Amino acid sequence: MLLTLIAVLASAWPAAASQPPGGTCQRRCGDVDIPYPFGIGRGCYLYTGENDVTFGLTCNLTADGTYRPFCFEVEVLGVSVARGQARVRNEINPWCYNDTSRSMDGGSSMWTDFSDSSFMLSDEDNRFTVVGCNSLAYVSSSETSQFATGSTYMTGCMATCPGAGRLENGSCSGMGCCQAAIPRGINSFDVVFEEKFNTTAIANFSRCSYAVLVEAAWFDFRTTYVTAGDFMASTGGKVPLVLDWVVGKVTCQEAMRNTTAYACVSSNSVCVDSRNGPGYLCNCSRGYQGNPYLQGGCRDIDECGDGGISYPCSVPGTCINTPGGFRCACPDKTTGNAYTGTCEAKKSQLGAHIAIDIRASPTEAQY
Ligand SMILES: *[C@@H]1O[C@H](CO)[C@@H](O)[C@H](O)[C@H]1NC(C)=O
Ligand SMILES: *[C@@H]1O[C@H](CO)[C@@H](O)[C@H](O)[C@H]1NC(C)=O
Ligand SMILES: *[C@@H]1O[C@H](CO)[C@@H](O)[C@H](O)[C@H]1NC(C)=O
Ligand SMILES: *[C@@H]1O[C@H](CO)[C@@H](O)[C@H](O)[C@H]1NC(C)=O
Ligand SMILES: *[C@@H]1O[C@H](CO)[C@@H](O)[C@H](O)[C@H]1NC(C)=O
Ligand SMILES: *[C@@H]1O[C@H](CO)[C@@H](O)[C@H](O)[C@H]1NC(C)=O
Ligand SMILES: *[C@@H]1O[C@H](CO)[C@@H](O)[C@H](O)[C@H]1NC(C)=O
Repeated sequence: MLLTLIAVLASAWPAAASQPPGGTCQRRCGDVDIPYPFGIGRGCYLYTGENDVTFGLTCNLTADGTYRPFCFEVEVLGVSVARGQARVRNEINPWCYNDTSRSMDGGSSMWTDFSDSSFMLSDEDNRFTVVGCNSLAYVSSSETSQFATGSTYMTGCMATCPGAGRLENGSCSGMGCCQAAIPRGINSFDVVFEEKFNTTAIANFSRCSYAVLVEAAWFDFRTTYVTAGDFMASTGGKVPLVLDWVVGKVTCQEAMRNTTAYACVSSNSVCVDSRNGPGYLCNCSRGYQGNPYLQGGCRDIDECGDGGISYPCSVPGTCINTPGGFRCACPDKTTGNAYTGTCEAKKSQLGAHIAIDIRASPTEAQY
């Protein structure tokens, strides 16, 4: 019986008592950085209520001898503060023909639940994915999404292999592999196979069917998943899933009313309403980057130095960094437009000194 029950018990509302995390906190586990509001151990993460463990992780020694962060039983692969996302490892649901017992093994319904946490499934980044040659599977949820009409949603797709030789690596468009988008605002789901479609009769060519919700950008279909049934073996049975998180399940407008709980504590930070429903995130203002959840966490981007993507002024040596931006100023005794044009020697004392202030946009932060 394959049952993934993610016991993320929470009373996630009201949110965020914004205590600054101590300097002694562990900020890395194995290869994974753990930026605040996430953290390991009491006082090191954003505390959002009695039993809410969204941001409280553990760093555990795993069977392969490496340390890895977990949120309850769910392994965390990475956290992005700039995007308000976390990548976790999600179990594949396999359903395979067993030559010994001459029956199908596995394939039972697999339920995953983040409903009492501050996580939501990213509808933009994930796809429900089915691999197989006679495989129809569904992803469903009984929860009420404010974006869905009715109380449940269900979607799915069918993968077939009409011509075995036509399977292609990297292509997931129905041949041995299919994908379906999921709706916005979902945080629990069930993965089930339609039993009428199974690999009993085609086991010599394709023994297994697989179904999983997976990060679309990560997934790369291999023909051997179908022909050799090695999707589990090649991934360790788990694949990345992208979760959106919020620091409070209220709108920015409501969050800003309670200054003790408001999580955007850095100067030069802004509040961002979550696209998944009531909930908010913080971001550094334009021209700043860093961690908006920490005092002084948002730092000015030096657009003129190495921090900038490329030198922003058309005239070399004219860039002056300013808080939240930069300016391109022509050197003394010259005049012109150092930002898009040239600087020329002043013809008269009346030549105006032109400097153009530019509000820069922060560079893209990554995982
Ligand atoms: C991680 O370690 C803690 C403390 O030893 C333990 O309670 C927890 O169950 C472990 N979690 C996982 C996912 O192994
Ligand atoms: C924060 O700002 C950056 C740069 O403007 C943007 O790329 C990112 O998506 C923003 N993050 C959120 C959570 O809005
Ligand atoms: C196939 O079924 C046999 C008998 O029920 C069982 O012992 C064996 O572990 C199964 N094989 C696999 C790969 O699950
Ligand atoms: C697809 O890639 C795998 C290696 O990942 C390779 O073994 C297989 O032969 C390739 N399939 C086709 C049809 O090229
Ligand atoms: C597999 O499919 C066959 C034919 O559609 C059906 O008769 C059989 O009951 C299915 N087996 C399982 C285990 O669902
Ligand atoms: C699969 O191949 C074996 C021999 O390799 C054969 O005995 C068996 O009948 C085949 N099964 C099917 C369903 O074609
Ligand atoms: C503000 O937030 C704090 C900490 O979560 C909480 O104790 C307090 O009751 C809140 N105040 C209001 C007016 O909601």
